[in-house]
Amino acid sequence: MAGAHETTDGASLQGEAREAYVEAMFDRISAPYDRLNRIISLGRDPAWRRLAVKMGAIGPGSRVLDLGTGTGDLAEIIAETVGPEGRVLGLDLSEGMLSVARVKLKRRGFAHASVRKGNARETGETADAWDAVTMGWVLRNVGDRPATYEEILRVLKPGGRLVVLDCSKPDNPIMRFGFWIYLRTVMPLLIRFLHGDGDAYRYLKESTEKFLTPNELTAELTRAGFSKVVCRKLMGGSMAIHVATR
Ligand SMILES: C[S@@+](CC[C@H](N)C(=O)[O-])C[C@H]1O[C@@H](n2cnc3c(N)ncnc32)[C@H](O)[C@@H]1O
Repeated sequence: MAGAHETTDGASLQGEAREAYVEAMFDRISAPYDRLNRIISLGRDPAWRRLAVKMGAIGPGSRVLDLGTGTGDLAEIIAETVGPEGRVLGLDLSEGMLSVARVKLKRRGFAHASVRKGNARETGETADAWDAVTMGWVLRNVGDRPATYEEILRVLKPGGRLVVLDCSKPDNPIMRFGFWIYLRTVMPLLIRFLHGDGDAYRYLKESTEKFLTPNELTAELTRAGFSKVVCRKLMGGSMAIHVATR
């Protein structure tokens, strides 16, 4: 197994093979993940997370399921926002990422927030139970998007919102070209300098290049059965927040 991840194009895998690849990769990079994220996003990720929470109309008392909760940065902001009358449950495939999240949530003393191992396409949660489902930089990684949408529509209350924050390919060809230059020059240098995990860099680049543009994701969410899909493009469309209603 050693070194197998060095040659696999993880972004081309689908289904359970993709999930196994993603789980192993995030287990490997869980320790430096927060630092890498802050640097790759040029320090903007906390502001984008807060904007996503606001756009999802998440407020005091909301019940929120955070899929692919990772190290819990989004769950932490949601827990602050919903307060003790609300509830936050974070699910993730990677125990390595979850162990970092558990430390943070415990340190903050949030009794209304918890995390557990779980899969976005089969959460095991009861139907019609959540005001919002959030996914911060997760949708691009899931192995089966149609099954994941079905599961989200099942667990959301009627009128509940799916909030997706993720990297995209800009719709505008000029912006797309500029973003590809960033992906191929600045970002590999940053990742190699900070962590040295060339495979994680390759995966981030390839999964972003293979993902949808913001307009394509709007169309996909509508086809999947969501209504009132709203999209806010950030950084010239290289990042986007979508809010879709059940
Ligand atoms: C880029 S990290 C984002 C973590 C966190 N949401 C954040 O905002 O920083 C993506 C996370 O999604 C998780 N993930 C990917 N596919 C998943 C799936 N099908 N079910 C649950 N978690 C998944 C990965 O394990 C990883 O922790």
